[in-house]
Amino acid sequence: MPAMIGTWQMCFEGLQEGYAILQNGGTAGDAVQTAIMRVEDNADYNSVGFGGLPAADGRVYLDAAWMDGNTLHMGGIMSAENIRNPIRAARLLCGRETNCLLAGRGAERFAVEQGLPMRDMRTEKSLAQWREELQKANRQMDAYREHDTVCMIALDDHGSMIVGTSTSGLFMKEPGRVGDSPIIGSGFYCDARFGAAAATGLGEDIMRGCLSYEIVSLMKRGASPDEACQQALYELVKSKVSLGEDEGSMSVIAMNAQGQYGAATTLRIFPFAAAKNAQPRLYAARGGKAGHAASSAAELKNEP
Ligand code: GLY
Repeated sequence: MPAMIGTWQMCFEGLQEGYAILQNGGTAGDAVQTAIMRVEDNADYNSVGFGGLPAADGRVYLDAAWMDGNTLHMGGIMSAENIRNPIRAARLLCGRETNCLLAGRGAERFAVEQGLPMRDMRTEKSLAQWREELQKANRQMDAYREHDTVCMIALDDHGSMIVGTSTSGLFMKEPGRVGDSPIIGSGFYCDARFGAAAATGLGEDIMRGCLSYEIVSLMKRGASPDEACQQALYELVKSKVSLGEDEGSMSVIAMNAQGQYGAATTLRIFPFAAAKNAQPRLYAARGGKAGHAASSAAELKNEP
């Protein structure tokens, strides 16, 4: 039975398209690529792809990754410019024995060689926001609160499981800064025997807990996706709090080999979309107070 889950409300339309592919007997790979491209191409989403908010130098640097849970191969690009659909480059890199994770110019050259469409990812709106931010004396660099990395996990009828991620990263980041999204084990992990996980939020924090690998590891040891998400996030939050830090901005999703899914967050509310045995719906995970990252996949509503 196919299943799919994605991060944030912005993934909803893409997930609907991706799930339709799965229902028609298509592959998890085509479902994930279609769903993420839909977000990358939408200039209204300013943390992913076209229209993504620039780095401090006014340029847009893209991170994306792809992992095949049946082969354990991954592909990714980081800090790359002008690739219209970073997820396509990441997918094409997946399966290479060497050179599967390319940064900057190398990633761009690969995309051009593969014939992928290139474009300036900046819009008038994103440049205006960048110029406005430049004027601010005390700039705060926070993780996005309403959207961030688009992450998708899909399981198809053939037993294939794929995870993909794509983001333009933090607004006003330093050029060259890379978050969790293209880093295996942190922003994503997938082993089709046990399940897959992906993360969104402040990459600098997510990487400290290798959150996605930890979640899959917990599912391997018998935890449900919801339990695994909560436990992995709780352990990291507990460490942060014991170090005198706040709980941070992190949200995670997971799916096991049976297509059951779950999520957890440190935010007050984290919307995600999912589908299994039914049409895609939007759900909300809810965070607890500091040190108690908790979630409940309480249904939010049927449409974004
Ligand atoms: N989670 C995306 C980033 O930190 O860049």
